[in-house]
Amino acid sequence: MTEPLWWKRGVIYQIYPRSFQDSNGDGVGDLAGITSRLDYLADLGVDAIWLSPHYPSPQEDFGYDIADYLDVDPEYGTLADFDELVMEAHKRDLRVMVDFVPNHSSSAHPWFIESASSADNPKRDWYVWRDPKPDGSAPNNWVSVFGGPAWQKDDKSGQYYLHSFLVSQPDLNWRNPELEREMLDVLRFWMDRGVDGFRIDVAQRCLKDPLLRDNPPAASIDPSSYKFNPEWAATDHIYDSADPDIHLLFRKFRSVLDEYPERFSIAEIHEWDWKRWASYFGDGQGLHMPFNFAPLTAGVDPGRLREIIVAMEAALPDGAWPNWVLGNHDERRIATRLGWEESKAMAVLLLTLRGTPTIYYGDEIGMVETDIPAELQQDPYGRRVPGQGRDGCRTPMQWSAATHAGFSSPDTPSTWLPVHSNHADQNVDTESKDPASRLALYRRLLQLRRANPAFHSGSVEVLQSDSRVVAFRRSHPGADSFVVAANLSDTPARHEVDGDVMGGTDHNRAPTTFNGHLSPWEAVVVKTSNLEPRTTNR
Ligand code: GLC
Ligand code: CA
Repeated sequence: MTEPLWWKRGVIYQIYPRSFQDSNGDGVGDLAGITSRLDYLADLGVDAIWLSPHYPSPQEDFGYDIADYLDVDPEYGTLADFDELVMEAHKRDLRVMVDFVPNHSSSAHPWFIESASSADNPKRDWYVWRDPKPDGSAPNNWVSVFGGPAWQKDDKSGQYYLHSFLVSQPDLNWRNPELEREMLDVLRFWMDRGVDGFRIDVAQRCLKDPLLRDNPPAASIDPSSYKFNPEWAATDHIYDSADPDIHLLFRKFRSVLDEYPERFSIAEIHEWDWKRWASYFGDGQGLHMPFNFAPLTAGVDPGRLREIIVAMEAALPDGAWPNWVLGNHDERRIATRLGWEESKAMAVLLLTLRGTPTIYYGDEIGMVETDIPAELQQDPYGRRVPGQGRDGCRTPMQWSAATHAGFSSPDTPSTWLPVHSNHADQNVDTESKDPASRLALYRRLLQLRRANPAFHSGSVEVLQSDSRVVAFRRSHPGADSFVVAANLSDTPARHEVDGDVMGGTDHNRAPTTFNGHLSPWEAVVVKTSNLEPRTTNR
């Protein structure tokens, strides 16, 4: 059997460049800062870093509004700093993934400036321009994810352009072959610089209904509407995203990636129907993976989590590889959203389930959501739709008890978002010294995962358990097998299995013989006595 690829075996760590490490005292994180922290990441035991956008940008959506796909924002450094980061990461066996934002550029991108300059400009068709309806109103009823209509009128030409997000984030027209060629070359540009993979932003929106039909009124509540505004939730988003042609486009992405060895794509796909979700693997010729966001809708509900594991495994096409997401730069911090003890138990599941996990920076030290006073709020979504702000999960990484938490030098006047006031106690330095800390838990789990094929390559089988418990077996031919059991309740529970506790939320238990007892919110990893003769899931 051949070794699985790095992105199957590995664990991805998401870095929000503005907030990881500031190297020059301007209060904003940067690439040199990230490079200076690579030892921490290698030591933590992750395999790849994914950088949220590092490109030149007016930063109206903090980099998800790109003004040049082929450079680095001066606030973050230079292409030379980028090359240095890749080189230093590779020296430490860390892969580097960047964010690819194909649905829209910034309105400050020279392409858009040209496109908007006149209706007959050669780049007009690189964006989505349409005449108004006869009454002068917008071409259809689509709304922006960030609130308000998805169309902006251009007084000069009288036409409207489409923006699925901010007015300053015009949608690119992927039906234009020149635009397509140019954007596929962007992938090559970064792979030539040594980039190992891409996280693809709002991937399924790249192609919409060619007739731009009105979305119908919502038939039911979409599980994803938990994070959207009421205006968004009022219609079914069947025409403004995921046109069936999208699968052809993803095959093109894939064939460009396949020009290089072992490159990888994982895409932001919001799709709750498992069959449709699975279709994005494109029979091994589409995306390497659509993100699995289902756990974000499950909280700590054991029944729902079991259901997700089983349904996702059943839906996976042959040869396709699963993945797990608990948090990212768009969601509330897990230590806040799920709860303090709850999120530790969930971390055990995240790092021991079958599939590639993504860790959001700071979750490994239990960073909690920061309350940002209105006058300091930065996120355009939160400023437009109250309550939707994402700043709270994007505050500076807490490295130490120092002023600005070691993120920025102490004489920096202020950081771009305030550092959480709990950083004096909760930070990498303090937690590194404490075997009971969350950081120690993550390190142990990552070590266990790396050392045992059952975790990074093996099969999974959900086990019968108490209704409050999620339990599964991980096994791999010729290797040790394990049972993971998590008590997702605030009362003690039991799970019977013979073997030794090798890890889990309570560091005092490993290594001891497992006695079946699970304290409230306790998760254990038990090595079962036998070597595994079974076959794998795939
Ligand atoms: C994705 C990103 C989010 C961004 C949006 C628009 O959802 O994760 O942060 O605001 O796309 O690009
Ligand atoms: Ca800086």
